[in-house]
Amino acid sequence: MRFDVVTLFPELFAPHLTQGITRRAFESGQVDVRLWQLRDFATDAYRRVDDRPYGGGPGMVMLAEPLEAALAAVQADRGAPPAVVHFTPAGRRLDQALVQEFAAAPGAVLLCGRYEGIDQRVIDRHVTHEISLGDYVLSGGELAALVLLDAVARLQEGVLTAPSHEQDSFSDGLIEGPHYSRPERLAVPGGAELPVPEVLMSGHHGHIARWRRECSLAVTARRRPDLIVAARAAGRLSKDDERYLSGLGL
Ligand code: ADE
Repeated sequence: MRFDVVTLFPELFAPHLTQGITRRAFESGQVDVRLWQLRDFATDAYRRVDDRPYGGGPGMVMLAEPLEAALAAVQADRGAPPAVVHFTPAGRRLDQALVQEFAAAPGAVLLCGRYEGIDQRVIDRHVTHEISLGDYVLSGGELAALVLLDAVARLQEGVLTAPSHEQDSFSDGLIEGPHYSRPERLAVPGGAELPVPEVLMSGHHGHIARWRRECSLAVTARRRPDLIVAARAAGRLSKDDERYLSGLGL
């Protein structure tokens, strides 16, 4: 898959594309990321990419013409892109279901806005998806683009060991339960020892799976009851799940 990122700050991307478990996906080209410096498409001698909004008001607007030129260059290079994403707090909230859609698609153009936003005519003509990270305002779309790239890259084959993302939080619509590793008893100041839950040491895979499911149900019911409602509506809760939840009084 191929992502073309249109940005005023391409240098923000390199550190994230060359580190950690996702590095392999980016370096092998499995997730091929091309960076386009928007300023290279400015149409005046000052390389301006922003100007004051018509009608007045605070801040600056990203100019339509450099964005149009950048999008034309991307299209000339790769053909019509399958999707054009604009990152904005006004967009649909990014979630794992949307990440999975992008992970299974041939890529997209990622438009990273700065300032107050981009000229609406560019959005109307080209943008297929508006995506938000959450209900807060970032100074630009670059961090949001990196979040999407990271979440997509880790789902690519061979990036994670075994199919561990099948157990990720949200991959089945619930939050994951807790994890434990060595030592079996953690000595803490004051002389106490904190053990690992006994069931995890039992070697009984059925009991462990049920315990993990119940932890996941409990943490989701407490922190994100909306996800329980959605899982129930989608028929993703078993009779055992429902019994467990009603035992919690939820
Ligand atoms: N750009 C500015 N704020 C944003 C947000 N919350 N999510 C995505 N892109 C943004």
